[in-house]
Amino acid sequence: MDVRILQAGPEGLCSIQADLLLLLLPARREAWAEGQGWTDLLDEAVAAGDLPLKAGRTLYLHRPAGMKAARCVVGVAGDEAQSTARDAARAVASAVAVVKQQGFAKVVLAWGGQEDLSDDAAHAAVVAVESALYSYRLTKPSAAAVVEWKELALLGNKANTAGLRAATRRAQAVAAGVNLARDCANRPGNHFTPTHLADEARQLARDFGFKVEVLDRKAVEKLGMGAFLAVAKGSDEPLQFIVLQYQGAAKKVAPRVLVGKGITFDSGGISLKPAAEMDEMKYDMGGAASVLGVFRAIGELQPKLNLIGLIPACENLPSGRATKPGDVVTSLSGQTIEVLNTDAEGRLILCDALTYAERFKPAAVVDIATLTGACVIALGHQRAGLFSPDDTLAIALQEAGDRALDPAWRLPLDDEYDEALKSNFADMANVGSRAGGVVTAAMFLKRYTKAYRWAHLDIAGVAWKSGAAKGATGRPVALLTQWLLGEAG
Ligand code: BES
Ligand code: MN
Ligand code: ZN
Repeated sequence: MDVRILQAGPEGLCSIQADLLLLLLPARREAWAEGQGWTDLLDEAVAAGDLPLKAGRTLYLHRPAGMKAARCVVGVAGDEAQSTARDAARAVASAVAVVKQQGFAKVVLAWGGQEDLSDDAAHAAVVAVESALYSYRLTKPSAAAVVEWKELALLGNKANTAGLRAATRRAQAVAAGVNLARDCANRPGNHFTPTHLADEARQLARDFGFKVEVLDRKAVEKLGMGAFLAVAKGSDEPLQFIVLQYQGAAKKVAPRVLVGKGITFDSGGISLKPAAEMDEMKYDMGGAASVLGVFRAIGELQPKLNLIGLIPACENLPSGRATKPGDVVTSLSGQTIEVLNTDAEGRLILCDALTYAERFKPAAVVDIATLTGACVIALGHQRAGLFSPDDTLAIALQEAGDRALDPAWRLPLDDEYDEALKSNFADMANVGSRAGGVVTAAMFLKRYTKAYRWAHLDIAGVAWKSGAAKGATGRPVALLTQWLLGEAG
């Protein structure tokens, strides 16, 4: 979809030629733009009960009287007079849902409030259109033929065309990253093995000129990644350790490093999970998918920074060769780990990747992982769990998430929580008690991150949706991209 900025003529919205006009409308009547032909029409609709002024409500109008557009979908935003990003995104999502089965050559998106569309709102609106139009097709040939919206024009304000243009360019890059992450995470385990994950990284590297290196089992053994190997050894699928590098600044500039959990299927291993909903563990590479998504966005936008992506990828399966509860393994850091529960595998593959990250002398390292069910209990499906001993980094990530509508919430890392990981047989156990499970998982990772500024995002609750709308969300690509763009020189 091409996105461009459009200026309205003297008659405003009514003069706009389009196959579809998406009109976002403030819920408060007084906040509507004045002196335009369409307000009478919508006042009538409101009076007739066809358009309750409540956030999320929509009205479809075919060949609306007095408008040049062939169709119009009105989406009611929240109460604020200003077009906040959150409002715009929600109104877009509900409006697009009405017509997303149809293809259009030209769609115009307009804000019906008095205040101009802000850059952030424009950004959010474009991301929302692109995500609402996403549909998974890779293993579902029976899904409807791809509908296309060829062009999206944003009705802008004259004073700020350049700002809007930059915002929409960023939005398109973020949306492409989000949708790539969704396509990766949605693919079932047999269609998206560690090998496929590595191929996807290689393809990205080809498309955008990244450096890519994939270490195989031999290389990983030679390095001494005993924790990662302990997880991978129950599966016949070869493990992959993926290293992606983007150079957008001088070589000497310390890179940011993203580490993504790449478990392409998590059965729990010998500590086998219950059967119900085990299929959802194909999403256990959501962290890895988000790293690829971020690289997609960064590749498009070419900011002045250096970025490394590390993805330890394997399956977690039971077999005669699988790691057993009680086994002790030696991590790349030299610290030994008693594997009390083979289902706490994410931290085992991540700890070796975190140690590997030291060699890049990073400015900051952020790991992203569908790490604990306890995070879902703590925060539900709205905010990701955010951990960092570094206040500046924590605040920067939290703010980036809020701004990008991909929010996270900081949780503690007090030393007292570390007690839970004590083991009589190794330097640490890989699980503590059930209480505070989201924190003890983070405490485990903290033991491997002393050499640099580090943050951890537990995305178990936000990486996918269950139920009727089951599928990957592409989170937290938007948060991470927002953060990285803010860090660029
Ligand atoms: N991949 C899971 C975490 C998970 C669970 C994500 C549910 C999304 C939904 C992780 O590998 C895991 O199994 N964690 C265990 C840890 C426990 C054994 C300490 C968990 O959360 O139950
Ligand atoms: Mn697990
Ligand atoms: Zn897992």
